[in-house]
Amino acid sequence: MRLDKCRNVGDFRALAKSRLPSPIFHYIDGAADDEITYRRNTSAFDQCDLVPNVLAGLNGVDLSTTVMGQKLQMPLFCAPTALQRLFHHDGERAVAKAAQKFGTMFGISSLGTVSIEEISSTISTPKLFQLYFHKDKGLTNNMIDRCIAQNFEVLALTVDTITSGNRERDILTGFTSPPRLTLKSLMSFAWHPRWAINYFTHERFRLPQLDSFVKEGSSISISVSDYFNKMLDETMSWKDAEDIRKRWGRQFCLKGIMSVADARRAVDIGATAIMVSNHGGRQLDGSRSPFDQLAEIVDAVGDKIDVICDGGVTRGTHVLKALSVGAKACSAGRLYLYALAAAGQAGVERALSNMRCEIERDMKLMGCKSIDDLGRHNLRWRR
Ligand code: FNR
Ligand code: LAC
Repeated sequence: MRLDKCRNVGDFRALAKSRLPSPIFHYIDGAADDEITYRRNTSAFDQCDLVPNVLAGLNGVDLSTTVMGQKLQMPLFCAPTALQRLFHHDGERAVAKAAQKFGTMFGISSLGTVSIEEISSTISTPKLFQLYFHKDKGLTNNMIDRCIAQNFEVLALTVDTITSGNRERDILTGFTSPPRLTLKSLMSFAWHPRWAINYFTHERFRLPQLDSFVKEGSSISISVSDYFNKMLDETMSWKDAEDIRKRWGRQFCLKGIMSVADARRAVDIGATAIMVSNHGGRQLDGSRSPFDQLAEIVDAVGDKIDVICDGGVTRGTHVLKALSVGAKACSAGRLYLYALAAAGQAGVERALSNMRCEIERDMKLMGCKSIDDLGRHNLRWRR
């Protein structure tokens, strides 16, 4: 499989699988327990069908949307994901530049491998910083203040990871950050010499949002699960979220809201958006999918706050369905991570281009000239 032959997410996934040492591939690809929620995140979109209108006399379509005060040229953005320089040596730089090219938002993780400062000087399009609430409040506040200084537009506090999900693939492969050099991992690197040469000949791996406070993840190898359980603060509360919102003072999003009650509380503490998300099925397996939960959340708070549907998106029609229910935008992780692993910035550009073409074509086939034309009137639910 070559990059120019990649037509869909499955193609990028196959290419990523062939390029990456297996512990790294399975870290991206895997999810919690039996991965039922992970699969449901995508299959939920099949519970309803689009009903098109024809003869709309279209003259091009407008894919732009405004979400969290940011005008995006397409209604799909890059969700924040960790450890990207493990997947491709350019990591977040590649994803950020690709997102800029498509005029969409780039999300960077607290566990990112390129610094807040470098991202800010690399792109001028909207940037979201994803905050993990650490036990070390000096570290948590330091990340917020760095993002304020670097003019990040959006802060997203992730609220679904106070403890780690049970990711059995990672346990099986022994995945750590940075990769531990064992006989097994060295063999896996030897099978993927291109990845290994790139990893070992580029700048040393580190987590620059964190490494002046904690060495774990940068110079001390640790599993993601142990990192969460050791470093993140499970006492995180609504009061903490509100305090962060106040310190930040700009567009503020809670990432990982799934219930109507919590969506209402997000409004109460002054959040400007929520990402309806189960962390790509990586946390609570058996929990509901974002798309299944979207309508009741939009009905409750959609007129007060921006609702984003995060996870499971692999097709343009998935985005159209979420927007029809009332999401302002969708976000995705693996969709661009496979492409990053497959071919760096060129890969992510192709993945975003494929999605933009799909969304544009699907809008035309629906007879819609802009996102505002989509609504529940053009959906029917299957029994
Ligand atoms: C993630 N996600 C994530 N979320 C977050 O808040 N902080 C993070 O550091 C990460 N890291 C991360 C790594 C990898 C490899 C994946 C696959 C996911 C979750 C991410 O932001 C998003 O919620 C999901 O990826 C959405 O599901 P899909 O699009 O992957 O199906
Ligand atoms: C993950 C993190 C880091 O899902 O959020 O792996």
